[in-house]
Amino acid sequence: MALHEKPVTASSGTDRSVESASAQDGTADVVDRCSAEDRAWLDEAIRKVEADANRSADTHLLPIPLPGDWGIDLYLKDESTHPTGSLKHRLARSLFLYALCSGRIHEDTTIIEASSGSTAVSEAYFARMLGLSFVAVIPKSTSPEKISLIEFYGGTCHFVAGADEAAPESRRLAAETGGYFMDQFTYAERATDWRSSNNIAESIFNQLAAERYPVPAWVVVGAGTGGTSATIGRYIRYRRHSTKLCVVDPENSAFFDGWVQDDMTHTTGMGSRIEGIGRPQVEPSFVPTIVDRMMRIPDAASVATVRYLEKLIGRRAGGSTGTSLWAALRIIAEMRSRGERGSVVALLCDGGERYCGTYYNDAWLRENGLDLAPYTAILNTFHETGEWPTSQG
Ligand SMILES: Cc1ncc(COP(=O)(O)O)c(C=O)c1O
Repeated sequence: MALHEKPVTASSGTDRSVESASAQDGTADVVDRCSAEDRAWLDEAIRKVEADANRSADTHLLPIPLPGDWGIDLYLKDESTHPTGSLKHRLARSLFLYALCSGRIHEDTTIIEASSGSTAVSEAYFARMLGLSFVAVIPKSTSPEKISLIEFYGGTCHFVAGADEAAPESRRLAAETGGYFMDQFTYAERATDWRSSNNIAESIFNQLAAERYPVPAWVVVGAGTGGTSATIGRYIRYRRHSTKLCVVDPENSAFFDGWVQDDMTHTTGMGSRIEGIGRPQVEPSFVPTIVDRMMRIPDAASVATVRYLEKLIGRRAGGSTGTSLWAALRIIAEMRSRGERGSVVALLCDGGERYCGTYYNDAWLRENGLDLAPYTAILNTFHETGEWPTSQG
């Protein structure tokens, strides 16, 4: 052994945290932190997450009927058919894989997440699959249906007064308990592989391949974390498609004004009534530079549109689907007025069964001062004429 070499510190093989005293006092120059058990657990955890994906079919791209002579085709990417019932199944899988492969989750790690509900439902499912404890930090206004689902998958709910308190409270809980704060609002945009891996964008474009307009003129999505819009926007550019990306934002959300004013520090301090999208602050996962258009949509228009959708296809969806569909219909009316042909894709994020007490409950609408009538009238006009009454919604 050369004079300057210090003894190699021992790897326990069983405990990744054991290091020799010389490593702690700064005299060692080689330190191992490998653990065969930890890697074996990790291998098995990744296999389980991948096996879940392997067992799952792709989600449908539903054609939504429009008069044939309009020359425009509308599709809804139906994300409600994932095993945990929403688009957030994709995000939860990506976040778990990202955290596992980044060495942040181990056999005994408690997972903590700030969520408006749906991400927590999906993460509770993956946590249970891996035998991990899961704590969802959610606003007390979260729908009882989502709370039951989180608990059904073995998660615990920790309530906060408003959406803006969920992340700081999660951080606090993680520090106090030694748990891992998954932090979807920071990591969503980087956890998903935007080039391929059958991400939502690749899936949409592959499913359109045999249609009459295989490259959509527009894709319309909402933003909760901003992760879905980031994946779609990057994919469009990477594949050199001419498609434009429209991000819709509900009332009280910070994304629209933040984007228009180019101010990513913009806050509203208010929670969104359209669960899953709209945030009190512009979240770190929102990538403004790949968004071609933003539209602010009144909450009553979102709800009127999910009810219109039910008449159109006999299916109930969540409020955020209404937000994205309202904008898609308005874009179609614009395209028609310019004599353009092509296709438009919007997202069906989750099913309506989670919202019986809210968007499908007239008493809730009254309590929240939401009058659907003017928006239903616009939808009816559009349905009959293909035209959009100007300067409304
Ligand atoms: C219609 C719609 N689009 C997009 C999203 C995207 O969510 P995120 O920005 O977290 O990826 C949601 C989430 O609920 C949604 O409902």
